[in-house]
Amino acid sequence: MKEHLERLWWKEGIVYQIYPRSFQDTTGNGIGDLQGIIKRLDYIKSLGVTIIWLNPVYTSPNDDNGYDISDYRGIMSEFGTMEDFDQLLEEMKQRGLKLVMDLVVNHSSDEHQWFVESRKSRDNPFRDYYHWWPAEKGIPPKRWSYFDVEGNAWKYDETTNAYYLHYFSEKQPDLKWENPKLREEVYNAMRFWFEKGVDGFRMDVISFISKDTNYPELPQEYEGNFVPFYANGPNLHEYLNEMNNEVLSKYDVMTVGEAPGVTLKNALDFVDEDRKELNMFFHFDLMSLDRDGDEVFMMRKDKWKLTEFKKIHTDWDAVFSEKGWGSMYLNNHDFPRSVSRWGDDSKTHWYNSATMLQTFLLTMRGTPYFYYGEEIGMTNIRFQNITDYKDINTLNRYASVKNVGGDVSAFIENEKDASRDNARTPMQWDTSKNAGFSDEKPWIKVNDNYAEGINVASQENDRGSVLNYFRKMVQIRKDHLALIYGSYELLAPDNERVYAYTRTLEEDKYLILLSFSREREILTLEQFKGQNAKLLLANDDAVVHVKDGVFKVRPYHAMLYTID
Ligand code: GLC
Repeated sequence: MKEHLERLWWKEGIVYQIYPRSFQDTTGNGIGDLQGIIKRLDYIKSLGVTIIWLNPVYTSPNDDNGYDISDYRGIMSEFGTMEDFDQLLEEMKQRGLKLVMDLVVNHSSDEHQWFVESRKSRDNPFRDYYHWWPAEKGIPPKRWSYFDVEGNAWKYDETTNAYYLHYFSEKQPDLKWENPKLREEVYNAMRFWFEKGVDGFRMDVISFISKDTNYPELPQEYEGNFVPFYANGPNLHEYLNEMNNEVLSKYDVMTVGEAPGVTLKNALDFVDEDRKELNMFFHFDLMSLDRDGDEVFMMRKDKWKLTEFKKIHTDWDAVFSEKGWGSMYLNNHDFPRSVSRWGDDSKTHWYNSATMLQTFLLTMRGTPYFYYGEEIGMTNIRFQNITDYKDINTLNRYASVKNVGGDVSAFIENEKDASRDNARTPMQWDTSKNAGFSDEKPWIKVNDNYAEGINVASQENDRGSVLNYFRKMVQIRKDHLALIYGSYELLAPDNERVYAYTRTLEEDKYLILLSFSREREILTLEQFKGQNAKLLLANDDAVVHVKDGVFKVRPYHAMLYTID
């Protein structure tokens, strides 16, 4: 293997992301908790995944479900106590599972003690932990906010006659990384968790942390698309490098940055091993594919094309073919469910779609990230009424549309596909009340389809279930190093129905065929004529021996072959 393909646990790992609020309630308050995760550890272990990533579990007033942290060393009371956390970590270690936490340090909560102090006076020792613009200088240059009803990232604060910056909600003021004291506080908080034995961090919008503190006018080219501007702050790499030197390099941990605005061109600046910054990041190219240009929360009018989907993955694989390492994901807590989005969740195609997408993630290079419920094919809930939505993003955007007399029913239609709440409905464990998530009314509605086979208990007992396919496919990835480290080659690039590729490591070669279509297809791959392609796994009837290079592909079919 090439040197950059040094074998490492986080490259060979398979990540399972848990949104704690929605996983398992044990206290009867309708909210998931840490004891709930502990209760389900044997199940998680049985999936074959090796790393758990937890969305934020820190103390928070929950303006943005934990992405607004008021104490970086505390546990959210709704989720339990530090003792529960320690027990969780201990029980995970006993089972050989690694734990990755969320690190949310582009911003804190406005209820964090630092901000409480910072806003008190202009000469408060914590003033410089945040970005302030004195009002006597006039209105600050435009900055866009994701969750602000007016889209304005500057909030006027009367006490000191100044504006503070918040790229997200007004309860999420941005931290000032330009202040070395603030950086040291962050590093200390990281050390605190690493000393406990945590195995890594997923770093929330880490590409946004560096800002030009002269706050210049937004350059014209970023008007309407501010993300690349936010993602290219002047000292970003200096900070990441410092964080690596000061903290990360001292522990055997993994890092994955959430990196909106990072491109194929600057990707390696973050993950080239020699630069000593991060190990991996999540790019947004796939997540933007079905969106309306730069409007990341609006659905695009026409349907995305498979050739576009292939190009995204092929281009990104090429970036990491010599250096760095990729991360593969099809959904998370910010995007709708993968089977509803990239497959077809109708009764006819649901099984094949869910298993085909699992096959995809588990046969690509880069660490695969699965989101809770993906292993049983959970689908979008498509709420019709605004009162069912809980997400600040949907609620505030709804208010914006309403305020300007916009078309609210068109907005709801959009949210049925786009809303983050699609991904936040409770885990479907069994056919009992509330899908076994909670005895009491869940904080967000459960998807009714738990009663129709989309639940763990029913799928456990069915050898042909999505769940058991997932387990088989996970085992196959673990058993075949070529599926992890092997080179990737795209076949039939122009085909709009089937995604075909090979993975090769020395003598080992695998062929993967995935249908992203409701139509059947007969695919001829000349290069396999006369070759012996043996079927390893498929989610539907498939040719076992291929001599003529002709593959009959069914709707949402997945086939994995070894080539002799
Ligand atoms: C990230 C998180 C998202 C959160 C936002 C602000 O994008 O994934 O859930 O709302 O940052 O913290």
